[in-house]
Amino acid sequence: MTNQEYLNDLFGMKGQTAVVIGGAGALGLCLSTGLGKAGAKIVVADVREDACVEAVKKLESEGIEAIYALVNVTSKESLTELREKAAAWGGKVDILVNCAGINVGTPFLEVDADKWDAIMAVNLKGTMLSCQVFIESMLKTGGGSILNIGSVNSDRPLSRVFAYAASKAGVVNLTQNIAQEFATQGIRCNAICPGFFPAEQNRKILDAKRVENIMNGTPMRRYGDPSELIGAALLLLSRKAGSYITGSALYVDGGFTCSWF
Ligand SMILES: NC(=O)c1ccc[n+]([C@@H]2O[C@H](COP(=O)([O-])OP(=O)(O)OC[C@H]3O[C@@H](n4cnc5c(N)ncnc54)[C@H](O)[C@@H]3O)[C@@H](O)[C@H]2O)c1
Repeated sequence: MTNQEYLNDLFGMKGQTAVVIGGAGALGLCLSTGLGKAGAKIVVADVREDACVEAVKKLESEGIEAIYALVNVTSKESLTELREKAAAWGGKVDILVNCAGINVGTPFLEVDADKWDAIMAVNLKGTMLSCQVFIESMLKTGGGSILNIGSVNSDRPLSRVFAYAASKAGVVNLTQNIAQEFATQGIRCNAICPGFFPAEQNRKILDAKRVENIMNGTPMRRYGDPSELIGAALLLLSRKAGSYITGSALYVDGGFTCSWF
């Protein structure tokens, strides 16, 4: 076995279909690229059609087989339609990545109840509904692997993002519960908890003071690059390398959650 064959066997995803929800976003598209380069066929699923079209173009330009499907994660009906479309195209869905997310930053006394509900609906309820819909089919097709996206504030509070933080703490808790519920049925469920990777949903809350705080709190003293999430995703999602890993929350954060002062 050559080195390449060994790595393909351990991490390769040839013959598998991955649905990446939020796949047109900064991290979702990067993870789609990583999974695609490891051999998976990709369904980019997102609410933004223009961004989906661009995402598929980019994946295809890298030699990755991909389609897009519009979805709103707050609707079980929409997720069920996505599942059917993905299965019709890919045969079955082996991998699910829940990468949709929204955020708003406000002081606590200004937290708006409707905005709270909207963030919870996408980040937490959306992850739950998506897991529910796809696990239903994975149980019938021989199993699968799920990757949810938490955050460093799944572990600890950050200022101004109260709903977001609560939703992401919930995502890790949900991930652990799903992992234990389906552990003997061929379904693994893990989370990546990224540190700070500037993207559309968080750029608007990154003022100068916040950036300074982030850099001071990040031992590596820099932002992450989305490509730095790919290795963690491949490990957690791959059938062989990740075969005994379920319910984990892997922090990819430049040391943020181990920082001290
Ligand atoms: N960028 C970071 O620093 C960072 C850090 C920790 C966690 N995260 C999480 O990573 C995930 C991806 O975030 P990102 O930074 O790539 O942001 P992004 O805004 O670039 O991507 C989020 C994607 O989710 C999609 N989306 C929003 N609402 C949706 C809905 N109702 N249904 C379907 N899709 C929907 C958006 O259209 C967008 O493409 C999010 O869950 C985010 O909370 C990001």
